[in-house]
Amino acid sequence: MRTLVTGGTVVTASDTVAADVLIVDEQVAAVGIDVRAGAGVDRVVDATGRYVLPGGVDVHTHMELQTPYAVASDDFATGTAAAAWGGTTTIVDYAGHDYGEPLLAGLARWRQKAAKSHLDHGLHMMVREVNDRVLAELPALVAAGVSSIKLFMAYPGVYMVDDAAIFRVLGAAQEYGVLVAMHAENGGPIDVLIERHVAAGDTAPIFHARSRPAAMEGEATGRAIALAELAGAPIYITHLSSAAALATVRAARDRGVAVYAETCPQYLYLSDADLARPGFEGAKYVCSPPLRAAMDQHELWTGLRQGDVQVVATDHCPFRLGQKELGRGDFTRIPNGLPGVEDRLTLLFQGVVDEQISLNRFVALTATIPAKIFGLYPRKGTIAPGSDADLVILDPQAERTISAATHHMNVDYSCYEGRRVQGGIETVLQRGNVIVADGSYFGRPGAGRYLARGLPDYSSC
Ligand code: URP
Ligand code: ZN
Repeated sequence: MRTLVTGGTVVTASDTVAADVLIVDEQVAAVGIDVRAGAGVDRVVDATGRYVLPGGVDVHTHMELQTPYAVASDDFATGTAAAAWGGTTTIVDYAGHDYGEPLLAGLARWRQKAAKSHLDHGLHMMVREVNDRVLAELPALVAAGVSSIKLFMAYPGVYMVDDAAIFRVLGAAQEYGVLVAMHAENGGPIDVLIERHVAAGDTAPIFHARSRPAAMEGEATGRAIALAELAGAPIYITHLSSAAALATVRAARDRGVAVYAETCPQYLYLSDADLARPGFEGAKYVCSPPLRAAMDQHELWTGLRQGDVQVVATDHCPFRLGQKELGRGDFTRIPNGLPGVEDRLTLLFQGVVDEQISLNRFVALTATIPAKIFGLYPRKGTIAPGSDADLVILDPQAERTISAATHHMNVDYSCYEGRRVQGGIETVLQRGNVIVADGSYFGRPGAGRYLARGLPDYSSC
């Protein structure tokens, strides 16, 4: 099957050129002018006046995650279909294991859940205990295509591991080329603050944020970086939300430390004022780390522009309003997490519209760098001969209003309800197959493939 995407402006992390894209079966065969020369095509996709972008790569999702009080409402089928509507064609979800359970057993369970994915998908592994058995499993994990593991400095008794454990994992990760992704919030003092607020009868959603101050994210980020430096290992800070944490990343990068940081649209567009909405509405916005002040948003945009933040992912972990209700009268029982997998490209594109970031930086942040850091490049994250033909055709002039009434995520509210946005995702191709076009959806459960990821590529990151 030969498909020609014609008339568009092809945008990669480095170039913006008027060019056609020739797809043969599942891969890009050629990019340029007159690429049809010498052979006919079976299908033409007209991209006149549109941008042709690499499919988005969202490296932080939690489909059907079991949390202490509720299961995330998108499963791998509904969540990946919604992602596709929003121009994301690859996800990397966080697999987990139970205490005492081998990492590979947890991975096998997650692969089963992910079998219904509409999109190509990789998996990270959340490691909740560190011992010789777990460390000995790392080479097998890499062989199974999992080249990144997540550790937590938060959630004592559930996920948190101590500094010695972190240091041991960083040493082993360095040896095997695995990247450690860190949830950097200092869980000890946070739990004390939670206890104090509960004791004082401070039960509203805003006390979620008051219990998790930015200073404790800054402290943990700095400590994680110091441990990585000591181990001689790179480190990746997930869902960085605050100026305090960014300052430590920036300082470390300035002295040549291999630290990489991810932020999420919620930290760029929402704030603690949303958590403080009247009544229980703030529950819609409860996630960890919590939403910060408007000043932090400003700093994060600077970080994206200047290169100190390299990835925009979603931390997609939606709960329906009925699930959020579990925490009415007790903010500690509000399921933590927000919907976002469908809105990521659209929201970050507003940064292009507002001239916060360039179009090429937009591609780098949403596709190319995440693909590189997580061992998927150049198969994913770019448009080049030999890459998978995962393409997004975006009309930069189209306008619409974000709403739960029209989104496709399995959640009955939107954090961005009523927000007017520019840029319409019109057509999406996954490995040469059109899965979104003309307002219709053609993807299907099980069409996504498991991606055995390679080791990270940090060049130009
Ligand atoms: O609040 C969040 N982010 N929930 C998802 C799980 C996690 O901590 O990343
Ligand atoms: Zn997460």
